[in-house]
Amino acid sequence: MVLDRDLGVAFARAYFGSGSQRGWDMLSATGARGLRLLAETGAFSSFLFTEAHPEAADVLRQNAMPYAGATVRSADAREVPAEAPFDYVDIDPYGSPISFVPTALRALRPRGVLAATATDMMVLAGVQPGACERLYGSHPVRGRLGPEGGLRVLLAYLARIARTEGRTVRPLLAYVRGHHLRLYVEVALHDASSAADPVEMVDPNTWTGPYLGDRGPYGPLWLGPLFDPELATHLTTPPTAARPKEAEEFLVRIRAEAAVDRPFYFEANELTGALGLPFPPARAAIEQALVERGFRFSRTHMRPEGFRTDAPRAVVEATVAVLARATTRAPPRSAPP
Ligand SMILES: C[S@@+](CC[C@H](N)C(=O)[O-])C[C@H]1O[C@@H](n2cnc3c(N)ncnc32)[C@H](O)[C@@H]1O
Repeated sequence: MVLDRDLGVAFARAYFGSGSQRGWDMLSATGARGLRLLAETGAFSSFLFTEAHPEAADVLRQNAMPYAGATVRSADAREVPAEAPFDYVDIDPYGSPISFVPTALRALRPRGVLAATATDMMVLAGVQPGACERLYGSHPVRGRLGPEGGLRVLLAYLARIARTEGRTVRPLLAYVRGHHLRLYVEVALHDASSAADPVEMVDPNTWTGPYLGDRGPYGPLWLGPLFDPELATHLTTPPTAARPKEAEEFLVRIRAEAAVDRPFYFEANELTGALGLPFPPARAAIEQALVERGFRFSRTHMRPEGFRTDAPRAVVEATVAVLARATTRAPPRSAPP
């Protein structure tokens, strides 16, 4: 989670700038995540740390001692603390964040930020669809696109619970990394001017995006943006990053991806496999062909070979088919002239 905390520092620097925000690290363990936000961003004047495990809370108290503004409490995070409202609340659980979401929503000031991690990927990414339906109320996407599906299941769930709390959510930064998901959403008060949430069922028969499988319909899924494009342009590797190279590589990808924020990504080898063609064309050739036709194109942080585009699947397939046939016909590079 070291890189993940680097990204948290990058997020807070970009979103809050320097200031006197009030933060709450609900599930602190020894405090690594919240203490880095307090010490390295200049965005927070105070941070509350809660931890239920007494031994972890003892270590947390020691760790927090040097930091002015840190308050440590050995407490159950499912109760809204007296210090509320906060500008930023972080849920970093083992497994699913859902049992902490209602409290976090109630503890935020309007337009505050909720950050949450989910490590229950077996559930969210579709390996245990029954559990996903029971816990999150959604039929999950399984397989290659399961992790992104999980992110969209979690966002759909958050949007629904937020409505029951009289609030709405807007993703600022939501990503998949290894075996966990992480998201940052802005939480506003729901009123008559609030737009409907972009949460829908996906029927494979009418869906024109990347192939999601044949176990649909899927969802409800969040089909709106994962990124705030303006924020994305301000995300930079913090000078205190523990993994600066990895953080930079990740943020470069996110900055590009935020400009083509379409649900789910394509992969050339999946497309050529489905079309019965032997060799996938180079990603750069697909990019050039789609951009020449006026579509947008970006790589994705979720998969090295993946790409997002606003071209519908039929156009992407036709483009890839033409390029793949050309690739098949081209003489091998080692052939004599
Ligand atoms: C994944 S760890 C947190 C990691 C930490 N944020 C970090 O960056 O190192 C989850 C922590 O939540 C604590 N916890 C679980 N349920 C809790 C509850 N209801 N109230 C407070 N703490 C709780 C656990 O004891 C554990 O230390």
